Amino acid sequence: MIGYGRQFIDRQDIKSVTKVLNSRLITQGPYIQKFEKKLCKKLGYKFSSVVSSGTAALHLIGLAMKWKQGHIILTTPISFLATSNAIIYSNAKPEFVDIDKDFYTIDTVKLENKIKSLKKRKKNVKAIVCTDYAGHPCDWSKLKKISKKYNLKLINDNCHALGAKINSDERYTSKFSYCTTLSFHPLKHITTGEGGAVLSNDKNFDKKIKLLRSHGINKIKSDEIWKYEMRELGYNYRISDFQCALGISQLKKLNKFIKKRREIASIYNNAFKNIKGIITPKVKKGYSHAYHLYPLKINFKKFEISKKRFFYIMKKKKILLQVHYIPIHYQPFYKRKFKYKKNDFPISENFYNEEVSLPIYFGLSKDIQRKVIQNIKTLLRI
Ligand SMILES: Cc1ncc(COP(=O)(O)O)c(C=O)c1O
Repeated sequence: MIGYGRQFIDRQDIKSVTKVLNSRLITQGPYIQKFEKKLCKKLGYKFSSVVSSGTAALHLIGLAMKWKQGHIILTTPISFLATSNAIIYSNAKPEFVDIDKDFYTIDTVKLENKIKSLKKRKKNVKAIVCTDYAGHPCDWSKLKKISKKYNLKLINDNCHALGAKINSDERYTSKFSYCTTLSFHPLKHITTGEGGAVLSNDKNFDKKIKLLRSHGINKIKSDEIWKYEMRELGYNYRISDFQCALGISQLKKLNKFIKKRREIASIYNNAFKNIKGIITPKVKKGYSHAYHLYPLKINFKKFEISKKRFFYIMKKKKILLQVHYIPIHYQPFYKRKFKYKKNDFPISENFYNEEVSLPIYFGLSKDIQRKVIQNIKTLLRI
């Protein structure tokens, strides 16, 4: 079966992990800091804390920022559930803003209108969490202006976008956002199995993240050398040393991974260009897409086939496509808790009706990609 994504692990990766497994410290060892330093360098941040997942990274941000009931955090319905679930973990409320119809990231005009309306109603808006969906960065210069104007913390869920660029700058995220989260899940650009990170330029904030990722425990200097103190209620969100060794080894291949993803995207772009009823992902001027996903929009009505049947036949051909994402406000939990309903976010909903994530990953061969394209074209009678 051909899936939409897949990790790439080579002999060097295995060697790096085995080296740590043969050492004394396999969990809290030297590779944690080494990996953190490399991530700081890559993204231009001063501080970084690696953790057990991208979800843990988002949760820790809410805890460190002391989000609580009555706080409102703005985000979009087109992201992975973790982006908004993490807001609820701290009892704050996620308020959604629709996506931009061309780039599928947060619509900055709608965002500002929403902030104005919430402020008018004296609501306590605290932060904006923006996902660089599929690997296409948001409109960060506008977001920064809005966050300054309304004094809101700006958080970049960068889990899709490691390797993306704005004006040739791979470190754009650190120029615009207060902090950034990464995920190292196997389907992301680089993997540690499970893993994630929080990056920022704020020393105290990073200290809090480090405290909270390990039960809120601080080692203290004392004659009683066994002593430690629990200062806050934290969690076990630690990542292991051998996972970080894998992360370092994977990071060395990031440029190669991104180059291949861009090549695959360019083949899809050519195959589906100028076809009425199909929209290939657009890239904003001056931006470089990291293509964690390749979201193709298909107007199924025009091709007289349902999305359900399209997926079913493709699966029969051993091509397992995906959809990113079911809008979060459609989920039963969100409908129940926040009374969201259909038509609340029409661009996200239309996007969901049409979006199909095509296979894109380092190990995807040209032959398999050709097979994917041919099957789609035959099915749509193009
Ligand atoms: C946009 C986004 N945010 C957060 C996460 C959560 O990351 P993890 O799976 O490492 O917990 C994901 C993972 O799929 C994601 O795609």
